[in-house]
Amino acid sequence: MSRQRTLARCGDCGHTEPRWVGRCPQCGQWGTMAEEAAPVASPAAAGHRAQRAARAAAAAPQRPARPLREIRVDDEPRAVTGIAELDRVLGGGLVPGSVALVGGEPGAGKSTLLLQAADALAGDAGRTVLYVSAEESPGQVRRRADRLGTLVEGLLLASETELPTVLGLVDAHAPDVLVLDSIQTVHHPDVPGTAGGVAQVRECAQLLVRAAKERGMATVLVGHVTKDGQLAGPRVLEHLVDAVVELTGDRHHALRLLRATKNRHGAVGEVGCFEMTGEGLVGVADAGRLFVGDSNGETSGIATTLVLEGQRPLAAEVQALVANTKLANPRRVASGLDGQRLSLLIAVLERRCDVGLSEADVYASSVGGLRLAEPAVDLALCLAIASSRRDEPVGGGLVAFGEVGLAGEVRLVTQTERRLAEAARLGFGRAVVPAAYDGPGHGLTVQRARTVAQALQLGLSRAPG
Ligand code: TYD
Ligand code: MG
Repeated sequence: MSRQRTLARCGDCGHTEPRWVGRCPQCGQWGTMAEEAAPVASPAAAGHRAQRAARAAAAAPQRPARPLREIRVDDEPRAVTGIAELDRVLGGGLVPGSVALVGGEPGAGKSTLLLQAADALAGDAGRTVLYVSAEESPGQVRRRADRLGTLVEGLLLASETELPTVLGLVDAHAPDVLVLDSIQTVHHPDVPGTAGGVAQVRECAQLLVRAAKERGMATVLVGHVTKDGQLAGPRVLEHLVDAVVELTGDRHHALRLLRATKNRHGAVGEVGCFEMTGEGLVGVADAGRLFVGDSNGETSGIATTLVLEGQRPLAAEVQALVANTKLANPRRVASGLDGQRLSLLIAVLERRCDVGLSEADVYASSVGGLRLAEPAVDLALCLAIASSRRDEPVGGGLVAFGEVGLAGEVRLVTQTERRLAEAARLGFGRAVVPAAYDGPGHGLTVQRARTVAQALQLGLSRAPG
């Protein structure tokens, strides 16, 4: 027997080194390596070795390969959760035997959403749903359930932190759907490391994926997100599961967005909108005007754009405040917007449009906790900044979108027509769009701008025309 050995493993990519190093040689991240005990021969590891040995010798295939076009797609019957926004993101419900990972920051509402989904799934078609909480006591979950009004027959609850016990419960109850809250808090006694560590998360997830596939049991795992928005635990977790959906939202706002970043059984473009209320998460079917105020073109520094969240066009307000400063390095503060992008646009406005900002602090923000990362936001942000600087409001009922280049040109963005159609539906009257757009206006007065300077002329003039 060798003495107890340690090795260092990267928390990001799972790469191992015999000794601790400051930077992972595999993925190049700093400070992600952590020491752990070298694996003793765990049953799972022994299983892997046996599998590998078996694989080394060629075996006669039980199911030979067939031409792709002869393979029939029998549409898997999906377990519709009954929560329209969740089903939309999953591409029509949970697929039996598939594993979905629901990520989000603490307090985002993951437990709430999944308890609601578990209830809806159990209430419908007499399914058995097993909800295992490794974070909360049965009493705590029951209190939440009371609040949500979810108490149906087929919903079973257990509070367990040991993975073998969870698998035992699965054997005992043979549920159609398993919800495990969360993958970072379950622990396998045969695997080294603490719960939430790379080795534990990977091994537990692997065993759950196997159980799901063997039983045809739809499985939903809750995953925590680290400070920088990554799913905690190794990347390999994302590779193991069939779908990764993330619940995001500012904890000071009621709005929550659910989006799929990976989906083997559907598209990833869809976004679900929810509002956190006293009775849990409520789907918002029409989020069109959720992120715009009613400034009516009276206040300076406010412009409206149309962004695409997944496949969904949303009208979104951007606000800017330009304030004179004596600081040698004026502040540029972005909230809900990209800070780098803000600096770039300020430089473009200075150099190409004669908007003096070098002696002014510039604050820019989205509203409602929405994160605007799309380049299409550029034009509205430029309008908002120039509007605040000149103290001239952006014309009422106007939307603007387009990417701004360093030469001060306005570039076409994807799906301009869809954005215009949505703007028209929401009651906007006028749109400033990139000059390269030559499609229909859907009843809007469409004004084409080749440069930001032109867009400012069009957008900031009080009398439209
Ligand atoms: P929770 O689902 O526990 O978040 P997570 O599992 O992602 O950590 O709930 C998050 C917050 O939502 C919590 O601060 C309380 C609030 N909340 C409501 O506002 N209404 C409700 O009906 C419930 C159940 C929770
Ligand atoms: Mg929770």
